[in-house]
Amino acid sequence: APGSPAATPPLGWNSWNTFGCNINEALVREMADTMVSSGMKAAGYQYVVIDDCWFNPQRDPDGTLQGDPVRFPSGMKAMGDYIHSRGLKFGIYQVPTEKTCAQRGGAYPGSTGSVGHEEQDARQFAAWGVDYLKYDWCSPEGSLEEQVARFTLMRDALRATGRQIVYSINPNSYHAIAGADYNWGEVADLWRTTEDLLDIWQNGNVNSYPMGVGNVVDINAPRTAQAGPGHWPDPDMLVVGRPGLTLTESRAHFALWALMAAPLMAGNDPRSMSAEISAVLRNPLLLEVNQDRLGAGGRRVRDDGATEVFAKPLADGSVAVGLFNRGDSATRVATTAAEVGLRGDRFDLVDLWTGAGSATTGAISADVPAHGVAAFRVRGGSPITGTTSQLRGVGSTR
Ligand code: DGJ
Repeated sequence: APGSPAATPPLGWNSWNTFGCNINEALVREMADTMVSSGMKAAGYQYVVIDDCWFNPQRDPDGTLQGDPVRFPSGMKAMGDYIHSRGLKFGIYQVPTEKTCAQRGGAYPGSTGSVGHEEQDARQFAAWGVDYLKYDWCSPEGSLEEQVARFTLMRDALRATGRQIVYSINPNSYHAIAGADYNWGEVADLWRTTEDLLDIWQNGNVNSYPMGVGNVVDINAPRTAQAGPGHWPDPDMLVVGRPGLTLTESRAHFALWALMAAPLMAGNDPRSMSAEISAVLRNPLLLEVNQDRLGAGGRRVRDDGATEVFAKPLADGSVAVGLFNRGDSATRVATTAAEVGLRGDRFDLVDLWTGAGSATTGAISADVPAHGVAAFRVRGGSPITGTTSQLRGVGSTR
């Protein structure tokens, strides 16, 4: 949104994918500690976001929200202070409707959504030191117009607090495809484009829950033209390192999210991640691509069915390229400098997984394992006008 604190895609960790409702203040403190000790913070991960089920299922008589007195006995101000004391930022979850998803599903009692309490809750969040709000439309009801109106109410309430709070919305619980076409960049700093991403490679039943990596890529890729500083299409939190994905699949998922300029919110348990998964999440070359200040969302420039090519133009005139093998057997994936938007006859390639350099007159290819992504940064030549402006997202409403 205009004036957004999210000049580049937010990086952080969120409790939902691993812990669901099983959260409490001791766990979140450990997570904050581990973000530091694992090197995640040093790699750039900032936000520690507490998802659904943190709140007291009943508001105070004056309508004030509180943390769940059993799970967060020290209160949410103390929780935020602890996260801040580790040099991290504090994120929290709420809904613009009556009930959170866990409340709707009966996994958590109460009916404490922000509808009718927007300003009060925004002031409360600011008083607790909240730096990031995930605001989740958890209802099958509501038109796009109603969604825009409610999400805008909280945007304005957050602004009125005077505190810089990243505003992350999810218009897509129960709205899988319909809501995704709207460009939410005026309303929010990031907006979900799909239903929940689970740790599966691909659901053969496209566009239906549950969604795997391949399904979410298909919905999000056409929308990356809407990406830019302060407004990021969000293909959901990472399932990197979750048990349903192989290491190759986790790597492919991470590279694609980096290339699509997606927010990168780790969803694993950093206390028990393997050295390989830690290296994926902290890959400095891919993080640099994701955090590039131009903020272009990588575009799918070739789709041959089982293999695809992604290209993300970067602020220094170079281009990050992903060679994606969605299929079930290893294959060679190829593109050219011209196809990714560069004119010239000599280019330097850096492999974004190994750091290895090589030179090419234009051909870019790799043998890519099944469910893998090879990634390169291509330097040299000059941008092909037209292609580059397309890559930068001309045609979006911003
Ligand atoms: C639905 C969202 O899509 C998830 O990311 C998570 O926030 C749950 N709601 C929590 O109930």
